[in-house]
Amino acid sequence: MTDTREVALVTGAARGIGLATVRRLLEDGFHVVMVDQNAQALEASAATLRDTSNLVEHHALSITDRAAVSALIGSLPRLDVLVNNAAIFWDGKFDTATDDDYRRMYEVNVVGTFIVAQEAARVMQRGGRIINIASRAYLAGYAHSAYITSKAGVLGLTRSMAMDLAERGILVNAIAPGLIETEMFRSLTPERQQELIAKQPTKTVGQPEDIANGIAFFASPRTRNVTGQILTLDGGRSMGIAVY
Ligand SMILES: NC(=O)c1ccc[n+]([C@@H]2O[C@H](COP(=O)([O-])OP(=O)(O)OC[C@H]3O[C@@H](n4cnc5c(N)ncnc54)[C@H](O)[C@@H]3O)[C@@H](O)[C@H]2O)c1
Repeated sequence: MTDTREVALVTGAARGIGLATVRRLLEDGFHVVMVDQNAQALEASAATLRDTSNLVEHHALSITDRAAVSALIGSLPRLDVLVNNAAIFWDGKFDTATDDDYRRMYEVNVVGTFIVAQEAARVMQRGGRIINIASRAYLAGYAHSAYITSKAGVLGLTRSMAMDLAERGILVNAIAPGLIETEMFRSLTPERQQELIAKQPTKTVGQPEDIANGIAFFASPRTRNVTGQILTLDGGRSMGIAVY
């Protein structure tokens, strides 16, 4: 790694939105540090990228492991951008949710996001950019209350970090993706997929690259005067359901 090129760290980088973001940030000229707890998937994804770029490295760890996160970030010669993307999903009705469901969501999606952000902020210089990935579902969504609660937490974290880190010149923003075509969407029946698409004002399902594009905006060194904001990329679904 050279110490002149900007460095971006992406969590949950083995697949989906994280992997699309790694590709985009490589295109944009960053040295990219990929992090994921799934060592096998991470290695396989990193191998495909190394064919086209020598600007990528990967590290298998959990974002909830403070010591491992701290050791990795401490070993980097510089850190300019953090994309805090790793998260887990929970599907279930409020009536039957358990304390453990809520604790697990909070542990990964909120505490894990906090740990990586805090370790990153400790080493970032003025001009550092942190991008937390939330979800449009923070507004509301049927039958995944524990996940929604954790993503609302990510937005609270984003805005409070933006306030606290402003005096050090570090910008903190969030992306709220809507319906995106990843493993989870593809695992639904074709009928359920069509039902969800029908509710979208645009009648489309977003691609991971659409989210990576929004992330690239906040990650760009040219984006200097924006902090504490939520960019919702959801085919207009946050406006309501479109019937036409
Ligand atoms: N896909 C969607 O439709 C959608 C919609 C709204 C928000 N989001 C959010 O976007 C982000 C990415 O979503 P995705 O669909 O690409 O997810 P995904 O499940 O395809 O990928 C998530 C990655 O994070 C990793 N991960 C999970 N827990 C981890 C941990 N503790 N430490 C390190 N890595 C961990 C997983 O191994 C996986 O590779 C998530 O924050 C998700 O909540 C996704």
